Amino acid sequence: MADAVEVHGLTKTYGTLTAVGGIDFTVPEGKVFAFLGPNGAGKTTTVEILEGLRRRTGGDVRVLGLDPWEDGRELHAKVGVIPQEFRFFEKIHPVEAIEYYAALFGTRVDAHALLRRVELEDKARARFETLSGGQKQKLGLALSLANDPTICFLDEPTTGLDPQARRAIWQVIRDLRSEGRTVFLTTHYLEEAQILADQVAIIDHGRIIARGTPDEIIAQHGRPPRLRVQASPGMAPYLREALGVTATVAHNYVEIPLPTKHEALRILGALEASGVPWEGFATVTDTLEDVFVQLVGHMDDGVLKSEVAR
Ligand SMILES: Nc1ncnc2c1ncn2[C@@H]1O[C@H](COP(=O)(O)OP(=O)(O)OP(=O)(O)O)[C@@H](O)[C@H]1O
Ligand SMILES: [Mg+2]
Repeated sequence: MADAVEVHGLTKTYGTLTAVGGIDFTVPEGKVFAFLGPNGAGKTTTVEILEGLRRRTGGDVRVLGLDPWEDGRELHAKVGVIPQEFRFFEKIHPVEAIEYYAALFGTRVDAHALLRRVELEDKARARFETLSGGQKQKLGLALSLANDPTICFLDEPTTGLDPQARRAIWQVIRDLRSEGRTVFLTTHYLEEAQILADQVAIIDHGRIIARGTPDEIIAQHGRPPRLRVQASPGMAPYLREALGVTATVAHNYVEIPLPTKHEALRILGALEASGVPWEGFATVTDTLEDVFVQLVGHMDDGVLKSEVAR
């Protein structure tokens, strides 16, 4: 499968600040790619370089085989964009805005169908300045689709949306993918990335610190699955003694590592034999958010600080 985006050794400096410090990644065609990282990590800088809006300092970048800075005109016809904190002319209404965009690209578009798609049809004739934050975001998404793009760059498309509106946007993203389009997404909602993304890259201080599918990243950087038992703290020393496992206490839970499902039977047997009161149990695994919180802010020159400390 071809790559829609190829990034090799990309750097961007603003004066003395290195916003992007030499990153490499690829985005396969027709997939959803989530680019994650804390505030100021370098996401928007990277996205805008890929869109041809900012000039890179160094490295090589290709989007749909084109150099975004040199071949911007050709590329812009194939790219859909929602900038972070999307704004538009105050007096324009959504139908006009979409038709205006389509005219810029010399394409025809059914503005009402597009507004239905993003669940904004009831505001088809409302002035931009009267739209709520979430409605403006939805219009941004509709506009990014007005030129029937091959790849969409969505920089925090769901920030500030209510849960239902976020799910509506998720569905649009899934539909874009099933139509064979590539989606390049940034978001601070890790749950959203875990649900939607085929591939993820996490950037921190301008460096990529993790890459892969959500499952690969969790398997590589997360803790092993655990059995979480609602029990009084006395259960932990009992299990350590009886089973020779590391049992930890958090809130009113005791957690025991569960490397294989067969371990569960042994642990449950020990719980029953303990004589210590216990209630329910569940198996828990790390989420992408757990791993993100663990990784971000703990890297020093590409090496985990905990590894340096060892
Ligand atoms: N035009 C600019 N001039 C100077 N510094 C900039 C400029 N744009 C971004 N920066 C700096 O570059 C770094 C990366 O910013 P960027 O906007 O790429 O972060 P981000 O990952 O998108 O963050 P957020 O999650 O807050 O949107 C930040 O330290 C920021 O202050
Ligand atoms: Mg940003």
